[in-house]
Amino acid sequence: MIKRISARILLKATVGLLLLFSVGLCLERTTTANSKGTSSLDQASYNPRMGGKTHLFTRHAFQQPAQNEKTIGEARKNIKVLNAFPESQLIPMMNLMAASLGVQCNYCHVFKDRQLVPELDEKPEKNTAREMITMTLNLNKTVKPLNGEVSCFTCHKGRTSPLSVVVLPLPTSAPRPSPGNAGGGAQPAAPQITADQVLNKYIAAIGGQAAIDNLKTRIMKGTFTTADGRSQNIEIDQAAPDRVRVVFTSQQGTMERGFNGSAGWEKNPRGVSDLPSQQLEQLQSAFALFRDLKLKDQFTRMNARKDKLNGKDVNVILAANRNGKRERLYFDAETGLLLRRVTTTQTPLGIVPEQLDYEDYRDVDGLKIPFTIKGAGVDAFSNATRTFAEIKINAPIDDASFNKPVAASSTTEPKP
Ligand code: HEC
Ligand code: HEC
Repeated sequence: MIKRISARILLKATVGLLLLFSVGLCLERTTTANSKGTSSLDQASYNPRMGGKTHLFTRHAFQQPAQNEKTIGEARKNIKVLNAFPESQLIPMMNLMAASLGVQCNYCHVFKDRQLVPELDEKPEKNTAREMITMTLNLNKTVKPLNGEVSCFTCHKGRTSPLSVVVLPLPTSAPRPSPGNAGGGAQPAAPQITADQVLNKYIAAIGGQAAIDNLKTRIMKGTFTTADGRSQNIEIDQAAPDRVRVVFTSQQGTMERGFNGSAGWEKNPRGVSDLPSQQLEQLQSAFALFRDLKLKDQFTRMNARKDKLNGKDVNVILAANRNGKRERLYFDAETGLLLRRVTTTQTPLGIVPEQLDYEDYRDVDGLKIPFTIKGAGVDAFSNATRTFAEIKINAPIDDASFNKPVAASSTTEPKP
């Protein structure tokens, strides 16, 4: 009985979302997993941070749910090992497990009538996974030098059966450094670089501090295309300091989210609603006007070093942001431009990375702006590309457009 009801609720949620925003397996897989019934576009378009509310930069901060957030055990139906962790970390951990083993959700979960029914225990893989979760948590807890770093990926590396036997022949080993060739520590030190130098070069490269400070509005129009080729139109309107409105349009309809400086909202074909704080955080962290322009303000700690990225010399800044997440920012050593930004979220089962690559920088009235942004992550929707056909800066935007719209129709749920 309970199973039936839950299946119906899942069905309802999924069918509703399917009607609205297109789909297939991938969408379904994320929406069915989402008990709060929030739109799949949370993961799709506002991808960055499903990771949630880890506000301290301590390794184990994630083990305590944030105030008034439910634990996974309280929020879900059939939880035996992940009970105590914050609900917001369940789906990131599921994505991390699937990515670590190179499988989809249905490797462990029953898939019935085009639905994932994740609370069922019919598949032996799910129970093996429970034992593996327990083992991984214990490893991180009991073996000190591991320092919480062991994840499913540490062993699995994208396959269900980790290699447990040494692969022969062994690779020929590199020659040992001899005292004569200045190996082992006596190498000429690479020239040092500081985070300030890297950031100053970046500011100069994109047009200078004055151009950034003069930025009042930006309007960007283009497409949002997921890795499986589905495309929607996207328009992002931003106004200083932190107002934003994002509109996604596909054949299935239009979905908007906005923030007017004090309140966040969502409008979709079902109606208008307030944006829960977690989605609001995501909206701002993905689309804030100055997100990639005023970097210094965002970090509590920064270190810089030189490295290579795809054969190019880069300067990398390692930073901790104010939400307690760690970031790595890669700047082209020659042009100074930001090439890549990687944000990591710590979960009890390891680190979940999210990556954005910035390409096709063009000059827009004195400011260099990337016209292509490629996303990558462990969930299907992070793997999407935003390509802009048009970017305008400092054009007037009606202030009212950032306010929550008045609902046009009732918000009745679509019937399955
Ligand atoms: C490697 C196996 C594995 C994969 C892959 C996996 N899961 Fe899970 N999932 C589990 C296990 C094990 C549990 C139960 C955890 C527990 O008992 O503490 C679970 C629980 C869940 C739950 C909670 C169900 C309830 O009890 O209400 C949801 C939702 C879920 N998974 C969604 C997903 C989604 C979505 C994916 C794909 C992104 C996925 N899972 C991939 C193993 C897996
Ligand atoms: C310390 C290494 C290690 C870690 C960490 C680890 N595993 Fe495993 N896992 C193994 C080994 C070894 C096997 C057995 C492989 C085989 O049977 O060929 C295995 C088997 C499995 C299997 C069964 C595969 C099959 O073919 O039946 C699943 C499912 C699994 N692991 C999931 C996970 C998940 C999920 C995590 C993270 C929560 C995880 N593992 C973490 C080493 C590890």
